[in-house]
Amino acid sequence: MNILLIGDIVGKPGKQIVQRALPGLRVEAGLDLVIANAENAAGGSGLTPKICTQLLAAGVDCLTMGDHIYRRSEIEAVLDGSCPLVKPANFPRAAPGRDWVVVPSAQGVPVAVFSLLGRLFMRPVDCPWTRADQILEQLPPEAIVRVLDFHAEATSEKQLMGRYLDGRVSAVLGTHTHVPTADEQILPGGTAFQCDVGMTGPCESIIGRDIQRVMHTTITFRPTYFQVAKRDVRLVGTCVEVDPSTGRATAIRRVCVRESELARLEALAAPALATADEEDEQDE
Ligand SMILES: [Fe+2]
Ligand SMILES: [Fe+2]
Repeated sequence: MNILLIGDIVGKPGKQIVQRALPGLRVEAGLDLVIANAENAAGGSGLTPKICTQLLAAGVDCLTMGDHIYRRSEIEAVLDGSCPLVKPANFPRAAPGRDWVVVPSAQGVPVAVFSLLGRLFMRPVDCPWTRADQILEQLPPEAIVRVLDFHAEATSEKQLMGRYLDGRVSAVLGTHTHVPTADEQILPGGTAFQCDVGMTGPCESIIGRDIQRVMHTTITFRPTYFQVAKRDVRLVGTCVEVDPSTGRATAIRRVCVRESELARLEALAAPALATADEEDEQDE
């Protein structure tokens, strides 16, 4: 089975390329399950219930977040379990949200998804290693396909998490830095690993934000609002092939969809949509 993790979706450009590309990409890449990190989806920081609904309608099965999870307070309305969305599981106990979810793949295979925040160069959180052990004990035994979104800054800490969980989860995939790393691999125990899957949004930017705004503030120390950039929008993520009978990963590859590919993907999705329409008509 093929599982895609879409890297941090940044602002409206990021959301829109997911909406346009994902239905066709699901067909073309034979995707059975799609996870998306949506911590930057609302104006570049946080997530709203409306955007959450739009991403799920576009073909995302499950959402992960990160350090920006509570930036938009409206999201708290869907953190109670009404939505397949997880908070970083090593946040304090009082922080709202679910520590893990199990979502069915297109073939009905239960897939457990959870997320943890790193501790290097990040806000202080509970021990990710201890929490990883605790989460794995809590997961239902039938969910042998397990994916961790490790939302962290340092590549060393991410590599260590890959090794720590090797053989115990299907994939340890990093998010948060918004820059994909070229180290995708299958570790000896059968865990797919990559330090960072990258960002979905405007790539002519400083990790998604307008270049001039960031440069002005950095050089002059005068604060400005960091607008979401607009150009060279890409859907970026990583696809992992997993054997559902063992939970072990068998392949991993980086995914990058550019705007020039949208027409092809939309044409691919169109027959599926047309079939759905015809079925609707037959039902009437
Ligand atoms: Fe982050
Ligand atoms: Fe992010």
